Amino acid sequence: MTQIGVLLSGRGSNFLAIADTIERGEIPGARIAAVLSNVAGAPGIHAAQARGLHTATVESRGCKRAEHDAAMLERLRDAGVELVCLAGYMRLLSPGFVDAYPQKILNIHPSLLPAFPGLDAQRQALAYGVRVTGCTVHFVDKELDHGPIVLQRTVPVLDTDDEAALAARILEQEHLAYPEAIARVLSGRYHFAGRRYVLRDAPTMAAGGTH
Ligand code: GAR
Repeated sequence: MTQIGVLLSGRGSNFLAIADTIERGEIPGARIAAVLSNVAGAPGIHAAQARGLHTATVESRGCKRAEHDAAMLERLRDAGVELVCLAGYMRLLSPGFVDAYPQKILNIHPSLLPAFPGLDAQRQALAYGVRVTGCTVHFVDKELDHGPIVLQRTVPVLDTDDEAALAARILEQEHLAYPEAIARVLSGRYHFAGRRYVLRDAPTMAAGGTH
């Protein structure tokens, strides 16, 4: 069993997609050991509690980054977490946090990185006028939205799109991408070639649209 820790700041729909996929037995060897938030009252935490999962909130507002991250790390360690999944966790990790889980932190971002890192990725994509965007699941390193990419799923930008419509279409793909990426990483059947993540013939859950 690999103990997974999910970090979130808000709605938690990616957390729910991961939890549902694990409950269906589709990510062999995965168990959610803790769901942590940096924001009081995050809906994702309520959803995790409703499922009987171990949760904690460590408010980051007004807290120094290194101190907050140390408190989060303590909770992750207490829960025996081995793989950290950032799921709408809207806070940059300190170098100390990244060092504590080398190549063991995943993040999902609502664009095809390296395009449109940072906040409001969907708005950035619309404003730029790209015809295709999507989502990226990547390992976290010390730079923002930057580490090796596990997988990406693409989404067309329609002429009729506003930010909400585009974000909703990307989110549907996020909910497929994140569980698939976790399954790939837990398979252990990959290596890094430079910053390239190279998968070795592991069975994958989803087809079509995943790259
Ligand atoms: C998702 O769209 C995720 O990709 C994005 O926040 C949303 C969280 O939704 N993350 C980022 O922008 C990180 N830079 P959720 O709480 O429903 O999973």
